[in-house]
Amino acid sequence: MWDWQKLENECLNCTKCELHETRQNVVMERGNRNARIMLIGEAPGATEDRLGKAFVGKAGKLLDMALRGLGISDDDMYICNILKCRPPENANPTKTQADKCIGYLQTQIELVSPVVIVLLGGQALKYLLEIETGITKSRGIWTEYMNIPVMPTYHPAALLRDDGKRIFMWKDIKEAWEKSKEN
Ligand code: URA
Repeated sequence: MWDWQKLENECLNCTKCELHETRQNVVMERGNRNARIMLIGEAPGATEDRLGKAFVGKAGKLLDMALRGLGISDDDMYICNILKCRPPENANPTKTQADKCIGYLQTQIELVSPVVIVLLGGQALKYLLEIETGITKSRGIWTEYMNIPVMPTYHPAALLRDDGKRIFMWKDIKEAWEKSKEN
């Protein structure tokens, strides 16, 4: 039987893939473990690796601006990633890395038991839902994982390259936030 203590222990001591050799910190999460809305990104970047917290770098700041604009505080949400350790050079997760790490994420989903999940970006979509069509086609359309409604949207880092995506990410998260409050 999993609980947070056991999960934390396993994650912090994990050596299942080569990323444990280069990480500074295991990045498990940020936010409230009892939140109704759970957001899932790709993998920690340099700032997250240094601080041991999810989405606290540049992309995280952009995401936070959108969340705060919608009235979502750290206490209202839980955020984590497909991978718990930073891939050097911020490379995309490999299938082998994701396969070894995904069990931790499934346990996080079970423990948080959110009302809705927001998937941030194509890598999260690919590795959680095994959908390879890309985020542009899938964003804004509800799907499901472990019987939980899932809203895919752009990764906030994509907004750094294309500001036109901002409105879509905002709209998708807003819809998910409203659904999370329904019952
Ligand atoms: N990008 C992610 O996908 N996750 C983080 O934690 C930071 C940047």
